[in-house]
Amino acid sequence: MKTRILARIGMLGLTYLMALLASFLVHIAPAHAEYGDVVINNYSDAAGMRPVVFPHWFHRVRFRCKVCHADLGFKFQAGGNQIDMVKIIDGQYCGACHNGEIAWSVENCNLCHSGKPGTKTQVHESTIQKLIQPAAAAPKK
Ligand code: HEC
Ligand code: HEC
Ligand code: HEC
Repeated sequence: MKTRILARIGMLGLTYLMALLASFLVHIAPAHAEYGDVVINNYSDAAGMRPVVFPHWFHRVRFRCKVCHADLGFKFQAGGNQIDMVKIIDGQYCGACHNGEIAWSVENCNLCHSGKPGTKTQVHESTIQKLIQPAAAAPKK
């Protein structure tokens, strides 16, 4: 009985570790984009930084639209906000939350500047990219 409980705790520990590892992997995963992500690249490429990939859905499930589009003043337009690092560090735009309190802070350059260099400002509207896997071989008849 006791060993069974211990084994169970061991399993839980393992599950926890795996979840921790998975969340870690999410953070170090290479840049990818999913449907609805906004690429912001008014200045980044020109300044030698990778373009910013803003995961809209990730934020939309956590905050109401009005938090960003009314209270924080984000205009409804990809690239329409002239965001720069001075404003962010000053607590505007992304910096209203990415300040080490509501969300991780501005030092994590690569978490925001994660796009492929040269990707233009846009709303990423493809789902095909992630859903369809190229067929290995033609089906046999
Ligand atoms: C919370 C997200 C976020 C983080 C973290 C972040 N940035 Fe930015 N950064 C942005 C956004 C959004 C823009 C505007 C992108 C554009 O229009 O090209 C930007 C623009 C820039 C620009 C071009 C405009 C300017 O201010 O000169 C530079 C350079 C830059 N970031 C450097 C950095 C460096 C270096 C770090 C880490 C110390 C960093 N960023 C961290 C979101 C972030
Ligand atoms: C955490 C902040 C945040 C929340 C919450 C949020 N948005 Fe956004 N939204 C943004 C940012 C950032 C952009 C891109 C602005 C830029 O590129 O300067 C954007 C862009 C947009 C755009 C313009 C896309 C285009 O075609 O150019 C629309 C429309 C939009 N949001 C709708 C919504 C709606 C509807 C909700 C609620 C369901 C919502 N947003 C919630 C931050 C947010
Ligand atoms: C209203 C608050 C708020 C604003 C504004 C905001 N974020 Fe976030 N963001 C968050 C929170 C909360 C998280 C989750 C932090 C965590 O997991 O610890 C997050 C996570 C992220 C992530 C990681 C997503 C993932 O898959 O883990 C990125 C990238 C990001 N934000 C970029 C941005 C950029 C770029 C902007 C500005 C254009 C921005 N955020 C504006 C609150 C905000």
